Amino acid sequence: MKIAIGSDHGGYVLKEFIYQYLLEEGYEVTDFGTHDEESCDYPVYAQKVAEAVSAGKYQRGILLCGTGIGVSIAANKVPGIRCALVSDCYSARSTRQHNDSNVLAMGGRTLGPEVALEIVKTWINTDFDGGRHQRRIDLITELETKYNR
Ligand code: RB5
Repeated sequence: MKIAIGSDHGGYVLKEFIYQYLLEEGYEVTDFGTHDEESCDYPVYAQKVAEAVSAGKYQRGILLCGTGIGVSIAANKVPGIRCALVSDCYSARSTRQHNDSNVLAMGGRTLGPEVALEIVKTWINTDFDGGRHQRRIDLITELETKYNR
C-alpha cells in the first residue's frame, strides 16, 4: 500500500511520528511536507496529498493540522477524495467499512501520539464493507459530479 502523508505546522510533530512508524513498518510512504514547525498554510499540504491520492498514485493519504479540521475540509474539495476527520478507533474502523475513506485527517493539537497511532493502524488495516455502503458512496460521487461540472 502506497501512502501519502502531509501536514501544516500544527500537525508537523505528529506527522513526523506517524511517518517514522509507517517507514519502520515497511509501507511505501511519501512525505509531502511541511518539514518544520514554521507557520504555513494547511490547504497547500491538503491539496498535495489529496491530488496524489485522487490521481491514483497513492492508495491512501494521511493529513494533519492543529485540529485536523482545516485539512479535512480542503482535501474533500478534491474530486474522488473521501477524507474523514477521526479522533477515535471506532470511527477509524467505521469510516473504512462504511465510507471507504481514502484520506485520514487528525489533529496534532488534539490527539496524543499513541492514540493517533492506534487510529492509523486501525484505519490502514480495515477494509471497505461494500454492499449497501457502495450505494451511498455512489450517491456521494453523484453529488460531487453535479457540483464539479
Ligand atoms: C494553524 O494555526 C491551525 O489553524 C491549523 O493547524 C488547523 O488547526 C486548521 O484547521
